[in-house]
Amino acid sequence: RVPCSAGTAPEQELLCIFGTGDLGRSLGQRLLQTGYRVVYGSRRPHSCGPLPERAQVMSHAAAAQSANLVFICIHRENYDFLETLAPELKGKVLVDVSNNVEKNLYPEANAEYLQRLIPGAHVVKAFNTLSAWALQNGPSDANRQVYLCGNNAEAKQAVSVVATKLGFTVLDRGSVSAAKELEDFPLQLFPEWRLPLRLAVGLTAFFFFYLLIRDIISVYIKEKKDISFRIMVSLANKVFPIVSLIMLSLCYLPGVIAAFLQLYRGTKYKRFPDWLDRWMLCRKQLGLLALGFAFLHVLYTLIIPIRYYVRFRLSNRTPEFDTTMAWRTDSYYSVGILGFGLYLLLGITSLPSVSNALSWREFSFIQSKLGHVTLFFCTFHTYLYGWDKFLRASSYKWYTPPGYMLCLVLPSVVLVLKLLLLLPCVDRSLTRIRQGWERTNPD
Ligand code: HEM
Repeated sequence: RVPCSAGTAPEQELLCIFGTGDLGRSLGQRLLQTGYRVVYGSRRPHSCGPLPERAQVMSHAAAAQSANLVFICIHRENYDFLETLAPELKGKVLVDVSNNVEKNLYPEANAEYLQRLIPGAHVVKAFNTLSAWALQNGPSDANRQVYLCGNNAEAKQAVSVVATKLGFTVLDRGSVSAAKELEDFPLQLFPEWRLPLRLAVGLTAFFFFYLLIRDIISVYIKEKKDISFRIMVSLANKVFPIVSLIMLSLCYLPGVIAAFLQLYRGTKYKRFPDWLDRWMLCRKQLGLLALGFAFLHVLYTLIIPIRYYVRFRLSNRTPEFDTTMAWRTDSYYSVGILGFGLYLLLGITSLPSVSNALSWREFSFIQSKLGHVTLFFCTFHTYLYGWDKFLRASSYKWYTPPGYMLCLVLPSVVLVLKLLLLLPCVDRSLTRIRQGWERTNPD
């Protein structure tokens, strides 16, 4: 945070805003509330629509001359006229807050273009990742971070002081060449969720159709029996936990692959392949989606006893009590509950507010050690659910395995690989590599 400069009273400082649109108005309002004086530069100073009370309005040239810091709240398409104001803007700090409607619309960033139009000014890109709403309401109700970049350190410092006084946290992204990246920020729509979401949709669609054909259409073809009502609860309650378990194992598979890669290479100083890097970076999203699917499974499981179909079956049969069966069902319920409890813990500790309060050691203990224990419980729950059905020929309708058997492949592989990594001799080598030891001299 930038400390308040002792000598200057903030009320006295005059800031200029070019542009009287939504963003310009919201920014002006907020600056006035914080104690600044504000002057708007407008093409038509006498008829420019409603502006915050206490703000002055002047022509662009007069407004530019009266302040040292000018916010440019106008569209890039209208920047050309600024060239004519080059003499008035010389030596001033220009804050470019603009954004574009799509990526790569122009060869250079808006801030770089502005700097080219007025080489004598110091352009700082800032505030563009905030909405007019966030600017007006302040950080209490919206995003707190203001990214900025620019070539002149003093100009950036001046903008940081204003942003900090407005209550935002400033993140300096370097020179004006970073402006393009900052201008692309608001155009991104959950970029790190894209791959996990696609995967979740793909897996759900695959298992839905696989189980639809195998468990429902096959019965219709063989026995002419319509059990399509099962799509709503039984099928859903198969697809969701299956996808959840696969996605949970996909969270831990890249870590295991990375460990084997380090063991194979004998060093931690070589970059991982790009695909592995990208995969590792979306583990949190994979895990949160997996948790969402597990949650659905638990909700569906809760309603099983009140279903019409189950009540109907129970009323027609009074089965013998079978202790083994009781052990089996109680065990898989209990292990499932334990797995779900740990799953929730993983989800909660991945929230930034919680993870920020943990040390790196605590975070990695929960996410790695407890994460693998969670995977073990969930996998064990599914094995217990399968019980002896793995050995019965009748389980393999049309020579295809049931969904839960398919979904056990990946978690079982991950757990076996993890067990191998835990063998003392392997663990020792890996720890040494991670502490910086290299098998061969890089030269
Ligand atoms: C199956 C209960 C948590 C994965 C089942 C079934 C029940 C159940 C009753 C049998 C469903 C049926 O008859 O169709 C529970 C309870 C849980 C829990 C009470 C915790 C409160 C989990 C978790 C996972 C999971 C966290 C991990 C992702 C599975 C899988 C199946 C299954 C893969 C087999 C689905 C199938 O193909 O039929 N669970 N479960 N369960 N559960 Fe859970």
